[in-house]
Amino acid sequence: MSACAGGSPIAQGQPKPDWGLADMPSQDGRIVLVTGGTSGIGYESAKALAAAGARVVIASHSSLERGEDVLASIRQDAPNAQVQYEKFDLADLASGRALAERLNATLPRLDVLINNAGIMEPPERGVSKDGLEMQFAVNYLGHFALTERLLPLLRKSDAPRVVTLSSIAARRGAAIHFEDLQFEQDYDPGDAYRQSKLACLMFAFELQRRSDASGWGLRSIASHPGVSRTNLQVNNGVVRRTLGRFILQPAARGALPTLYAATAPDARGGSYYGPTGVMEMRGPLGFARVPEAATDARTSTRLWRVSEQLSGTPYPSRAAD
Ligand SMILES: NC(=O)c1ccc[n+]([C@@H]2O[C@H](COP(=O)([O-])OP(=O)(O)OC[C@H]3O[C@@H](n4cnc5c(N)ncnc54)[C@H](OP(=O)(O)O)[C@@H]3O)[C@@H](O)[C@H]2O)c1
Repeated sequence: MSACAGGSPIAQGQPKPDWGLADMPSQDGRIVLVTGGTSGIGYESAKALAAAGARVVIASHSSLERGEDVLASIRQDAPNAQVQYEKFDLADLASGRALAERLNATLPRLDVLINNAGIMEPPERGVSKDGLEMQFAVNYLGHFALTERLLPLLRKSDAPRVVTLSSIAARRGAAIHFEDLQFEQDYDPGDAYRQSKLACLMFAFELQRRSDASGWGLRSIASHPGVSRTNLQVNNGVVRRTLGRFILQPAARGALPTLYAATAPDARGGSYYGPTGVMEMRGPLGFARVPEAATDARTSTRLWRVSEQLSGTPYPSRAAD
């Protein structure tokens, strides 16, 4: 059991267990990008950040019309919210590149990037525009590439953060299947989801290591929402719909670890936050348990190199490479 990227348990620096929106510092003047902010955890995160004064860009898959409805819904709760919608598709690397070009050209800087969007366990193996297994592409590689392309904008911030969403699924026997990374030989929806979420966690930790080594000045933090009532869970079969009545916590609660990671002055780079109750499905905020596999620096480096090749987005090289 461990609490942060280094693998050693940390007693100090625990977040306040009942940390909530009232504890969130003012976000006046901060610029935040939330992927997948049209529903679920991303929507709740975007809404809370906008209500606290941040300028929030929601980048998601929905139509421009639905995007406008989402902005209107946020403004209903927070009339002064500065929110904008950008349509893009994580399953299309060119679309992520175009989004980054638009933002690099129009934003003065980016203070927080929240890599939140995701899909879970499509029963049939789907492929992205770039020919990659869909969960790998959307949950992980699209964010890997987007973060690289937004690095110049993040580095214009005084205190940039990148928050990446993982899952307790990354603990349940998850592995990076280098021998069949795209599940071409034997597609298992659950294994592919677990791989993608483990990859997200490894990415968050490796990004912190690379930022430290190269002086990018980032705080890279991972979070997970326990099990929360969102489209991702509710649309995912009878079991989850049934369990949902009893287990799933409200999405607004599931967003708290992400909001802590994005805003709390004490949130640490290289850490992983989530609920700490039974099986980490809900409960007080704290350090999440890091699966052993996510602390393997050699596998992380290998995954990073493969990801640079697959996405065509080489990060600036660090002295140690
Ligand atoms: N809910 C949980 O219990 C749970 C547990 C563990 C981890 N998570 C993680 O939490 C994150 C948020 O999930 P959620 O539960 O809030 O699910 P959700 O309500 O289904 O939201 C997913 C969001 O991702 C966006 N999205 C999906 N495919 C996309 C694509 N190709 N390009 C761009 N955006 C895309 C969706 O956009 P549109 O609606 O605009 O299409 C939506 O806004 C995910 O990373 C998920 O793995 C959730």
